[in-house]
Amino acid sequence: MDNLLNRAPLRPNSLRLGVNIDHVATIRNARGGEHPDPVRAAQIVAAVGGDGITAHLREDRRHIRDEDIARIQAATNLPLNFEMAATDEMLDFALRHRPHAACIVPERREERTTEGGLDAAGQHNRLAPIIARLTDAGIRVSLFIAPEMRQLDAAIRLGAPVVEFHTGEYAHATGDQCAIELKRLYDMAALAVRNGIEPHAGHGLTYDNVQAVAAIPHIAELNIGHYLIGEAVFVGLEAAVRRMRELMDAARG
Ligand code: PXP
Repeated sequence: MDNLLNRAPLRPNSLRLGVNIDHVATIRNARGGEHPDPVRAAQIVAAVGGDGITAHLREDRRHIRDEDIARIQAATNLPLNFEMAATDEMLDFALRHRPHAACIVPERREERTTEGGLDAAGQHNRLAPIIARLTDAGIRVSLFIAPEMRQLDAAIRLGAPVVEFHTGEYAHATGDQCAIELKRLYDMAALAVRNGIEPHAGHGLTYDNVQAVAAIPHIAELNIGHYLIGEAVFVGLEAAVRRMRELMDAARG
């Protein structure tokens, strides 16, 4: 595998779309065979102008399997954003596979998905050496955190080059709360940029709610999974990614 392929320059001056392909593997694993193959999904994302692939190797391997990671890296030249828990096992795995980026996420076995942000503030001593090892290996570290001052402050102290803001609270908000959550994302993204951190965002984004987040000018990348894979069941992955891209580009103006 040519790791240089995974270091392809990202699209400048626009909002990047990373597609999380975990749930293609969820469907595959429901029958224990090889179909549908997340690698094919990665290739389709690359062909329709997605900017990156996101994949989460969970401790319980409920969707992405170990061998998928190398297969995805070999099959496309898109940057791979490897989602990982802050464990020794995942650190070793990341160091062996050298993805373009490693996004450190909280992980609880019983959760259905990554339900909240990482407690970067409470886990400084656990995270600092992991971030150092990944950074020394040339892997761009991102911390998946809630859009909160305390967590952003911790990310700054940890020297993370990227934070991904968990948009779950925004995605689930209704009425006035929606504007409050959006303002929180805006303010934290602006503050991240002022502190030299590149802000990304993701979780629970759909055709209906993506544009308000995409319009936040400081945000460099959105990572979207479940909705796109669900929509792909009806219209195909190609059409689903294209539509999401159009909405993001229109919002960014
Ligand atoms: N970004 C990160 C770090 C995630 O863990 C996930 C999945 O929870 C996503 C983005 C995509 O979220 P969703 O599948 O809800 O679009």
